[in-house]
Amino acid sequence: MKIFLDTADISEIREAASWGIIDGVTTNPTLVAKTGRKFAEVVRDITAIVDGPISLEATSEDAEGLVAEARVLSAIHKNVVVKIPITTEGLKAIKRCRAERIKTNTTLIFSANQALLAAKAGTNYVSPFIGRLDDQGQVGMDLVRELVTVFFNYEFDCEILVASIRHPIHVLSAAMLGADICTVPFDVLKKMVGHSLTDVGIARFKKDWAKIPK
Ligand code: G3P
Repeated sequence: MKIFLDTADISEIREAASWGIIDGVTTNPTLVAKTGRKFAEVVRDITAIVDGPISLEATSEDAEGLVAEARVLSAIHKNVVVKIPITTEGLKAIKRCRAERIKTNTTLIFSANQALLAAKAGTNYVSPFIGRLDDQGQVGMDLVRELVTVFFNYEFDCEILVASIRHPIHVLSAAMLGADICTVPFDVLKKMVGHSLTDVGIARFKKDWAKIPK
């Protein structure tokens, strides 16, 4: 499974990239706004650190506007993937972007039918927001399970990018289901590395190493 970092924070991206496990980055307007930095500078920094798909979000409501934004965003760097929300206008934009070889990530997916339509329109990635489903009392991972089945049945040229991840169990469950990608916030990534027994083990080995005559 590929792991993307779900952040626009450059220090987080630099640190996680140095661990050698980051395949791409996803952003959205909320994440970029949090940095307080200029959009162009944030994007320049991300593309300089990570050589993999970088999702940047288009915010227009009509297809015309979405395609116009997609052209501008995709021209920034070869790795840019344009996030397009799943709406009827979004579907029209996805189809046109595909024709222009602009990669798209269909975002704000909350049902398998939305993902099915996005895949048929030609999107490259679908992003089910599982944490937001959990937040309102639905089991977000059920959506990932449905998507894995649907995409396996029809061999769409489209990857399942599990988003809105809240904790390490989300990542593990998505991996066990065979999702293509998880986009993970940095705090969740740190929790995936750590374990209290690892810390205890390191401390014990260090202590015992000191006892060995050298
Ligand atoms: O990148 C989009 C997605 O991961 C957002 O997550 O935590 O705002 O639901 P969240």
